[in-house]
Amino acid sequence: MKDILHELEARRATARAGGGEKRVAAQHAKGKLTARERIELLLDEGSFEEFDMFVAHRCTDFGMEAERPAGDGVVTGWGTVNGRMVYVFAQDFTVFGGSVSETHGAKICKIMDMAIQNGAPVIGINDSGGARIQEGVGSLAAYGEVFQRNVMASGVVPQISLIMGPCAGGAVYSPAMTDFIFMVKDSSYMFVTGPDVVKTVTNEHVTAEELGGAATHTRKSSVADGAFENDVEALAETRRLIDFLPLNNREKAPVRPFFDDPARVEPSLDTLVPDNPNQPYDMKELISKIADEGDFFEIQAAFAGNIITGFIRLEGQSVGVVANQPMVLAGCLDIDASRKAARFVRFCDAFEIPILTLVDVPGFLPGTGQEYGGVIKHGAKLLFAYAEATVPKVTVLTRKTYGGAYVVMSSKHLRGDFNYAWPTAEVAVMGAKGAVEILYRSELGDADKIAARVKDYEDRFANPFVAAEKGFIDEVIMPHSTRRRVARAFASLRGKKLANPWKKHDNIPL
Ligand code: HXC
Repeated sequence: MKDILHELEARRATARAGGGEKRVAAQHAKGKLTARERIELLLDEGSFEEFDMFVAHRCTDFGMEAERPAGDGVVTGWGTVNGRMVYVFAQDFTVFGGSVSETHGAKICKIMDMAIQNGAPVIGINDSGGARIQEGVGSLAAYGEVFQRNVMASGVVPQISLIMGPCAGGAVYSPAMTDFIFMVKDSSYMFVTGPDVVKTVTNEHVTAEELGGAATHTRKSSVADGAFENDVEALAETRRLIDFLPLNNREKAPVRPFFDDPARVEPSLDTLVPDNPNQPYDMKELISKIADEGDFFEIQAAFAGNIITGFIRLEGQSVGVVANQPMVLAGCLDIDASRKAARFVRFCDAFEIPILTLVDVPGFLPGTGQEYGGVIKHGAKLLFAYAEATVPKVTVLTRKTYGGAYVVMSSKHLRGDFNYAWPTAEVAVMGAKGAVEILYRSELGDADKIAARVKDYEDRFANPFVAAEKGFIDEVIMPHSTRRRVARAFASLRGKKLANPWKKHDNIPL
């Protein structure tokens, strides 16, 4: 019996050693942790339960039968994050470069199937040379099986991808279909075709970092939702994100203990909006003053800064925040902002996370760049996302809200549950100057007359009361009491039940 137990221990030790000391040292030399070290940091101490530790590939080509390392380049299993269950896979770059074989893929599929069946998130740590070259189509098939499960899991359990090394070719499409992608600066990259192919085909000279590094994907392409300094930070922040999310689409997000008075008054908010309507202010200040303990987990912070998306808690409950940012492009909606916010709204709706929308929007950004780029379709994504969302929706208008953008930003007309306005809010078809120039074109030569018309228009529409008279705004609230009002609104909506008509699926403009 003792010998049998020893043998198990010996086999386990061999599996845990991965590709051996030399390759582990090379991994560390690149500033990267190993698959097992990453899992250890991601999960609660001692909570990891491994599956398929002894699975080995079945390839007999290219002399592969001589080397069949236990685990086959991916560590899979489940554990807990602050006591809540998650499934995890971590590709082990020290074993065949973390490349995906039939058996490697089958291990990932096994935990994805369990995650869908048992209702817990999947966190995938990607660090791989791609398809296992020796296996050919078997490897491609393995990717296909993973892709299919990504789609089946979408909207059922949260899926988070951490890119912590190479992720190239068709392999990028698995993370691309997950809910959030986080990258590590200077040690991870994602691209469909690498720098050498790019050079051959388009004659562009570009490094891997420039083509698909964390800066590229968080600032330019918006493929990634966040970039972190190193593996440790990325793993710690993933734990933080998991705390905001439900385990699956049938459960609510966890309620965390809170130490912040829901009725906290913030007198500074009474002067947040400057007297000059063209002067910007930082909408993030409002977000942090509403949130429990000022805690805000921002998504896509470096992309489309004219709209802010992320998670806060109110009375310990998760809330998704979408907010126009007057400090960037005056808070205009454009293609990038619409896509960013639409995806976020749909995530929140899929996982029953209520949405708080903070509005200061002068309209959609004009220009040929926007029109040629299809702002009509992209703007429609955000409109569509808000209109189909059945989660509790609370909206606060702080200042301008003009034209189509007024309707889009979770207005009453798109089934907003509570639509509050600060006394500084203005709901109108457009700003006073633009309106007067169209309505009184014949008087444009007379500056005094035009000034009087502008004042007249402002007196009529540069306030929230016309909209409030019609019931499109439920209440004009004091800025200092925003946290209390919003928290009470969400509390009153905890029993909200709203269902859309049956359909196979909708046809959101893509
Ligand atoms: C088998 C692989 C491998 C692969 C790396 N290795 N990629 N083994 N299949 N795809 C092995 C290497 O042989 C080496 O083994 C070890 O992993 C580490 O690789 P190095 O090259 O030494 O590491 P590094 O210098 O850091 O370079 C990493 C790399 C490079 C840039 C990822 O290995 C590389 O270019 N690999 C091939 C990438 C590729 O073309 N993949 C196919 C893409 S197409 P030893 O024994 O020396 O440690 C694809 C399609 C997916 O993925 C389709 C989905 C539908």
